[in-house]
Amino acid sequence: MAAAPTLAFELPDTIAALPPRAFEFSGKAREEADAIIGQQPDALFLRLLRDQESEAVLLVARRVIDAFLRPHTRPHARPQAGQDAGVPAAADLLDGASADDIAGHVAETRAGLAVTIGSLSRTEPDTRDAVIRQRAPLGLLGGCWLDVLSQPATQPSVIVNRLFAQHFTQRGEGNPRRSLHYLRHRQMEGVGVYLPETGAADFLSRAGARPLTTLHGSFYLALSRLPANFLPELVGVHYVFHALGVDDLLLGMAPMLPEPALRDVLAAYLELAGPAERRRLHTGIRLAAALEREHVAMLAELATWHQGLSLESKAAAIVARHAPFAGRHHRGVRIGGRPLSAAFSDPGLDVAEFLREFRESGPLRRTRDGHSRFVNAIKFGGPMFGIFDEREAAVFQAWVESVQAGERPEIVISANTAGDAQAAQWAAAIAASAPADVVIADVAAPGDRELLYRLVNIENYANTLPLAAERAARLFAEAEILFTRGAGGRYTDASYFDYSPEALYERAERVYWEKLVDPYQPLAEIPDRDEVVFLQTTYALGALVDAAWIHRVANLGRFERPCDSALFSIYADEMGYGDLRKNHITLIHQALRSMDVRLPHIREAAFMDQADLPDELYGFSLQQLCMALFPDTYYNEILGYNLAIEMFGLGELRLHEIQKLRHYGFDDCYEQAHLTIDNISAGHSRQAADIIVCYLDEVRRARGDAAVPQEWRRVWRGYASLAYFVEHALLRTIRGDDPARPLRGQVTRDEPVDLVI
Ligand SMILES: [Fe+2]
Ligand SMILES: [Fe+2]
Repeated sequence: MAAAPTLAFELPDTIAALPPRAFEFSGKAREEADAIIGQQPDALFLRLLRDQESEAVLLVARRVIDAFLRPHTRPHARPQAGQDAGVPAAADLLDGASADDIAGHVAETRAGLAVTIGSLSRTEPDTRDAVIRQRAPLGLLGGCWLDVLSQPATQPSVIVNRLFAQHFTQRGEGNPRRSLHYLRHRQMEGVGVYLPETGAADFLSRAGARPLTTLHGSFYLALSRLPANFLPELVGVHYVFHALGVDDLLLGMAPMLPEPALRDVLAAYLELAGPAERRRLHTGIRLAAALEREHVAMLAELATWHQGLSLESKAAAIVARHAPFAGRHHRGVRIGGRPLSAAFSDPGLDVAEFLREFRESGPLRRTRDGHSRFVNAIKFGGPMFGIFDEREAAVFQAWVESVQAGERPEIVISANTAGDAQAAQWAAAIAASAPADVVIADVAAPGDRELLYRLVNIENYANTLPLAAERAARLFAEAEILFTRGAGGRYTDASYFDYSPEALYERAERVYWEKLVDPYQPLAEIPDRDEVVFLQTTYALGALVDAAWIHRVANLGRFERPCDSALFSIYADEMGYGDLRKNHITLIHQALRSMDVRLPHIREAAFMDQADLPDELYGFSLQQLCMALFPDTYYNEILGYNLAIEMFGLGELRLHEIQKLRHYGFDDCYEQAHLTIDNISAGHSRQAADIIVCYLDEVRRARGDAAVPQEWRRVWRGYASLAYFVEHALLRTIRGDDPARPLRGQVTRDEPVDLVI
C-alpha cells in the first residue's frame, strides 16, 4: 500500500519555494504576449487586471516579473531604474540577515519616505488631490499578490497559510465593506477623491495615472498571476510594501497589518528558507523598496509640477481635456478669426496659441455685471453650465479675472512628465525581457495523470489552458443529459426546473432530506479494513483538491461583487482561515496518514507515479481543476457546482464513512469537519444556494427578468456536472450501457462505490 518513503509527503508542508520549473507556452501565446507588451503601459495594466484566464497573460506576467527582478537579483547590482529617488536607500542587506535586521533597514527607508510623504500631505488641496489620485492604483491593488497564492500546488504550506491569514484580514474577513480596498476608497472619499472601482473603464483616467504608476501596478499584478513560482520574492514584496506603508502614511490610516505581524511572517519564512530562497527573498525586498522609493519620488515630482503650474497652464490643461468633445458645439463662435469648431477638431491644436487668442476675444471682455460672456456661459443658467466641474470652473474664473486685470504673461505650457524617465526604462526592460526559463511547446494529449500534474502546476504549464477550457466545456455539455433524467439520482437531483429563489431552496431542501438524510441507517456490518481504506482512497483525489473550484473567483477587480466575497468566505473557511489545524488539505493528509497511505504531494512529478489512488477517478478532480481555471468564463457553472459539491458533503454517505473510520481507529477529522461545516441551515450548502440567488438577482437588476433563465440554465448545468460524476448507476441506466463497462471517472468494482468530497 505504501509508496516509496522518500517520495512521500509529510506534514507540516515546509516548502519555501516550489521546485524550479520551466514555464511552458504555445507559439500562439508568444505572439499574443508580444502584442500585449507592445501596447502602452495603461493597456498592459488593464490586460493584466482584467484577464485572469488566458495563456498569453501568464507569459506577459512572466516577462514583466523578469524585467523587474533582473536588476535587483544581486545585492550590489545597480538597478537600471528606480535608484535616484531622492530619499535614503536601505543599505544592502546580507543574505543572512534576520527578520529584525530586515525590519531595521525597512524602517530606515520608511522614515525617509515619511518625510517626503508628510510634505506631500501638507500641500494645497489641488496638488494633494492629484497626488492621492496618482497613488490610488497602487494603494488599491496592494496585496493582490496573495489573491491566488493559496492553490492546489501550495496547500497546505505553512508559509502560504500564514500569508493567507493576512489576506483574509485584508479582505475584511469576508466582508468587503471591511476590506483594506474599501477602507482606502472611503478614506480617499473623505478628502474629496472619488474614484470608480479598480476594474472600471475610466479608473485610470480618473486617477490621472502616469505610465510609471501603471508599470509598477503591472509588476504587482504580474506577481499576482504567478505567485506560487515567485513565493520567495513575494514574501519580500509583501513585507516591504506593507511595512513601508506608503498608502497609510499618505492617507493618514492605521495599518491593517501592523508591522510586528508582518515581521512574524517574515521570520517564519526565514526559518523555512535555505540560502537560495533567502537570496530570492532579498531580491523581492530590494525590488519593493526601490519601487516604493521611486514611486514616492514620482509623487513628489508630480506635486512640484502641479504647484508650479501657472493659471495659463491649468487653463490649457482643461482646454486640452475638453477640446476633443467640444468641437461641433461651437459652430457660430470664432476665436482669432477661426471657427471654434475647426480649432477644437484639429488634433494638432496649439493650445498656447489658442489661449493667446482667446484672452483677446470678445467672450472674455468684462460685461456690465462685472463678469464676461464666457464666465456667464459656464455658470448656472448659462449654455455651457455643467461642462466643467467646480474646480475647472474656478480655474477659468481666476484666469479670466487675471486677463481682465490686464495680465498678459507669456503662455508656456509645461507638460506633465512625472516619472516618465523611469517609466521608459521599465517599459524598455519589459519589451526586451526574454526569460531563459520560458519554453515554447505544444501539448499533445496528456494522459490523466500528466494532465492533473499540469493543471495543479498551471503557472508552469499554461499551454494546457486551452485543453482545460475545452474539457470543461465538453463535460458541462455532457452533464445536461441529467436535465431530463436526473431526478433518479441517488445523491442528487439534477433534473431541470424553472428558476425562482423559492424553487431553488425547495429543491435543495428536498435533496437534503429525501436523498441524503432520510435514507440514513447506521451500518449493521462494517466492511473489512482493506475495503474501508480502498474506499477512502477513491475519495482522496477529490479531497486533495478540496475547494479548488473556487480558489480563483474573488480576485482583484471582482472581489467587490457580493456573491464573490461570499464565495471567498467559503474558500477561506475551507482553508481554515490560514489556521493549519482547520485547513481541509491538512485534514485529508492526516486522514490518509492514519491509514498508512503515503503519497507524494500532488504538485510533485512523483505523484504521476503514485500507486495508491485508482486511475479511474482522475476525471472528477480534473474537471474540478479545469473549471477553476476559468472563473470568468465558467462563473455560473462554478456557482451551481459549488452548491452540488457542498451538499454532497452531507448525510448518509459521510456518516457511514465516519462509522467505518472510527471502527478501525482511523482519523475521521476530514469527514467530521465536512459534516458540520457544510450544513444546510447556515453552512456552506446554504451559503451556496444564497450565492446563486444573489447572483441571479444581480443579473435581473442589471439586465432584466428576461436575462435570468439563460444564466440560470448555466448555473444548473454546473450542478449537473457534479451529479454526472457521482450518479454512476443512474447514468448506466440512462445510457443502457453494459453494466460491466466502466464509465469515465468511475471505479470498476462490483459494489456501488461513489465519490465523497
Ligand atoms: Fe472542504
Ligand atoms: Fe465545504
